[in-house]
Amino acid sequence: MLGRVNHIAIAVSDLAAATATYRDTLGARVSQSQALPEHGVTVVFVELPNTKVELLEPLGENSPIAAFLEKNPSGGMHHICYEVEDILAARDQLKAAGARVLGDGNPKIGAHGKPVLFLHPKDFNGTLVELEQV
Ligand code: CO
Repeated sequence: MLGRVNHIAIAVSDLAAATATYRDTLGARVSQSQALPEHGVTVVFVELPNTKVELLEPLGENSPIAAFLEKNPSGGMHHICYEVEDILAARDQLKAAGARVLGDGNPKIGAHGKPVLFLHPKDFNGTLVELEQV
């Protein structure tokens, strides 16, 4: 079911500072920031040779990463995103196996314009998993 790691996401409280760390201290190529109101985050992508790191800052009142940052004020690894070929087939197979899909269970359009779903961290070793159809 799983393909490549599409990205690893890190929640941050100060996106500009985190972007500067990756760009200036680590010398990485970084994207422009992108506001995603439907997901309650603003994102910057760090482009690496084999994958991407997604820096996430809360956006709006009910950001899904606000509680995470309260528990982890200096930021932390938030989720890992795996690529799948058919997100609806993957969802149905995972649900049949007892895994919980977050939200209403229907894919949303993610930061790359592709359908994404999130899976409950308790079903995946304490790690929030994002699936992205590629
Ligand atoms: Co993501």
